[in-house]
Amino acid sequence: MPSPVSGFSKKNKAEKIEWLASQYLENEPDAISILKNYWNEDLKLQQLHDDFIENTITNYYLPLGIAPNFLINKKLYALPMVTEESSVVAAASNAAKFWLERGGFKATVISTIKNGQVHLNYFGKAEEMIAFFKQTKPTLIASIEEIQQNMKKRGGGLLDIELKDCTKELEGYYQLHCTFETGDAMGANFINSCLETFASTLEKEAENYSSFIANNQFPEVVMSILSNYVPECTVKASVSCKVSELAQNDISGEEFATKFVRAIQIAKTAPRRAVTHNKGAMNGVDALVVATGNDFRAVEAGVHAYASKDGKYTSLSDAKIEGDTFHFWFEIPLAIGTVGGLTRLHPMVKVAFKILQQPNAEDLMKIIAVSGLAQNFAAVRSLTTTGIQKGHMKMHLMNILNQLDATDEEKKATITYFSKNTVSHSAVIAFVNQIRS
Ligand code: MEV
Repeated sequence: MPSPVSGFSKKNKAEKIEWLASQYLENEPDAISILKNYWNEDLKLQQLHDDFIENTITNYYLPLGIAPNFLINKKLYALPMVTEESSVVAAASNAAKFWLERGGFKATVISTIKNGQVHLNYFGKAEEMIAFFKQTKPTLIASIEEIQQNMKKRGGGLLDIELKDCTKELEGYYQLHCTFETGDAMGANFINSCLETFASTLEKEAENYSSFIANNQFPEVVMSILSNYVPECTVKASVSCKVSELAQNDISGEEFATKFVRAIQIAKTAPRRAVTHNKGAMNGVDALVVATGNDFRAVEAGVHAYASKDGKYTSLSDAKIEGDTFHFWFEIPLAIGTVGGLTRLHPMVKVAFKILQQPNAEDLMKIIAVSGLAQNFAAVRSLTTTGIQKGHMKMHLMNILNQLDATDEEKKATITYFSKNTVSHSAVIAFVNQIRS
């Protein structure tokens, strides 16, 4: 029975593993050697990774694959994608090739405004709070002058502070709703520093505000934090072509386009379908967000909130046939950065940026949005034509073979066999057992 530990973070890496071995991996010598096998021999590189988080004991690999042939606003890109899902890079590559032959993707940044709030309690009269805010706003702005010096030089900084009376939703609840431009940075640290400074300035100013003193009612800061809901920081990606150009194999362009648009309408109507539909797009978004060292949890949270912005969770993407032209597009919120965070620290992220030809934040927003749209297109295309299992299981075949410790020869024979037969877990096991016997 494992026992609690104190001072774990003070132990060195070997001691941490020793403790883990004694408490949770007692009869698992293989597990310990696996942990150690994933250490990097380059000690400096390993130290860099150790320092990313607390209590690092080893590294956790995910593959980085390349999806080439992405034509975005007439410029050709190869996308570095980090994902564990076997079919994602293949699907992205297929979609890229498909649209390369039909004029490529278009992408536009709509706006880049980030936001954060100081959440306040105030149970006095609203007019007094409003008057206090009006008087104190210049002091609040002045209080972050030093923090925003560098950001201002890079064209960013605070845009505005508004007082929001939210007392109808929650008694005594007010917000300082603050908006920012953060240039090429995602800006989380910058925004949070500004908000915390606003919070302490506000409390200090409130202490000396006469009508608060007279009524003995002061605003109290509950918390200060940026919002990952960024509906004013959005990017649009789109594709279009003649309906006739969509003809594939034995499907006419019109048949394909009609069924595709219908699939989108279903995702717009049915939240259960919309979640999976959007998840397909996020396969493409997250793979780029991770490869570029950005915060995929923030992006995920923000995108799904955006998908329900009108009160019902719905498809992020839309499609239509107009005359003889097929249009497919989506708009997503994306607060990402090309400076700050891991972006200039993680060697793989630096390489990813080189592959992407050193995009600035707006370029990266466009690339990520296109990756999401491409992935969404590939998924809906498969679903409305062949079904996804064919491609999915073909890509998953190698995982099954690796689970079975297949030799190179066994792999070759199995891949040849399953190029003409339906892949399933049990069929692969049966086939490998058969060649083994
Ligand atoms: C699987 O990762 C993603 C899909 O389910 C997306 C979709 O259903 O549109 C194929």
